[in-house]
Amino acid sequence: MKFPRGLFLLLPLLITGCAIHPLGPLDKAPRHQAKKLTGYKGFAWGISTSSLQYENRAEKPGNPDYFLRDWDLLVQKKGAPVIGHALYSWSDFDKDLKALKKIGVTHYRFSIEWARVEPEPGHYNEAALAHYVSMCRKLKEAGIEPVVTLWHFSFPAWLTDPKDNNKVNWLHPLARERWNLYVSKVVRATSPYVTYYAPENEPNGQVLTAYIIGLWPPCHTLDFSGYKAAIIASADMFRDAAARIKEIKPSAKVVSVEALPWWKHGPLDPGGLIYNTVQHSNFDHLDRIYDVCDIIGFNYYYSQVAGPLSFLSESYRHGNHYTMMGWRIDPASLGKQIRYVGKRYDKPMMITENGIATLNDSERINYLHDHIAQIQKTMEEGYDVRGYFVWSLADNYEWHYGYVPKFGLTTMDPVTRDRLFKPSAYYYKKVIETSQKEQKVNPGMK
Ligand code: BGC
Repeated sequence: MKFPRGLFLLLPLLITGCAIHPLGPLDKAPRHQAKKLTGYKGFAWGISTSSLQYENRAEKPGNPDYFLRDWDLLVQKKGAPVIGHALYSWSDFDKDLKALKKIGVTHYRFSIEWARVEPEPGHYNEAALAHYVSMCRKLKEAGIEPVVTLWHFSFPAWLTDPKDNNKVNWLHPLARERWNLYVSKVVRATSPYVTYYAPENEPNGQVLTAYIIGLWPPCHTLDFSGYKAAIIASADMFRDAAARIKEIKPSAKVVSVEALPWWKHGPLDPGGLIYNTVQHSNFDHLDRIYDVCDIIGFNYYYSQVAGPLSFLSESYRHGNHYTMMGWRIDPASLGKQIRYVGKRYDKPMMITENGIATLNDSERINYLHDHIAQIQKTMEEGYDVRGYFVWSLADNYEWHYGYVPKFGLTTMDPVTRDRLFKPSAYYYKKVIETSQKEQKVNPGMK
């Protein structure tokens, strides 16, 4: 019997197994080397604001827009500066919109005032809700993606029990049930125009300030059990909100917004007690909700040494390295935080707030430039950063500090109420234009 010639040639290969495999030799120690993420497409260039810090309000009971927040109660007790009409953003939203369009942002994060929508438990102000819906629609029509925060620090005053200081806000017996209904109502109404929802703004920072530092309602100092209870309640309510959002709009994206300063070890901190406490305040809430988030959003402004000296000197810190708030300017630590959060949660990230209180606008440009450069750097390293939001559109009401700190890219003309551009607004506009053109984050020239 005669063998075909080709079979002769194949024989040694079949015997030795030395074939050239189309997929190459099999690795002895297989290791998936992820392709570096340089993906830029869809990067969110945004600006963040909040309702209480921007909106004007109706003052008198009897007026259909009348509502009261826990913060108003604090102002009444002289525990915080008078808000007045802030930036008139309720009646003058079109002025904000005009400024946003001119700067060229792709995303705008603003918040809905729970008390305005639900001035009394179960009684909704439909006209107010319709107004918020129209804001979302107008943004969409202008090609700007709304990022809707459902709670930004202020609660309806009816969640304050005047007789029991332990039944306030997150810990009020009505809170969870009413919150779920409020969230469903708002999401149902806004979802035709909204994809991104941030259920809560910096719940970790608010709970710390309310239960440990004692400045915000219910103003408890070093109340560790209240702190824990409020962290748990706010995390439960975040998870409820995430579930409602996905139920109503499965394609929606749930975004966390946590306050994540970068903490450093410092002297006079026995056994790292302070460092440990502040690290807890950074991550206690996020650890409980990260799994229901599509995007881990966090606000970064500064780094701080965790120690008694640094806390006591906070309001006296001035000079080149500090902002008007006494916060240390430290862009490199934004990079550190992105790497830390990226590794800890392994999810896409967004910097949902970053900005500086200063009277010197070139200092603002430097600050923004150096922080955006960190986004660029960490993205080149492969970290999945999906967006960056400047705090804030205009000089606004800064909680305990009133109208003194100037965080705005613009300022309001007191007569015409127009938003007057500062050079930093033009700088940011240029960054967005260049980055969009090059399809990569480019902080440009200072
Ligand atoms: C808050 C804003 C605040 C900003 C600057 C963040 O903590 O979300 O409401 O104005 O930082 O302090």
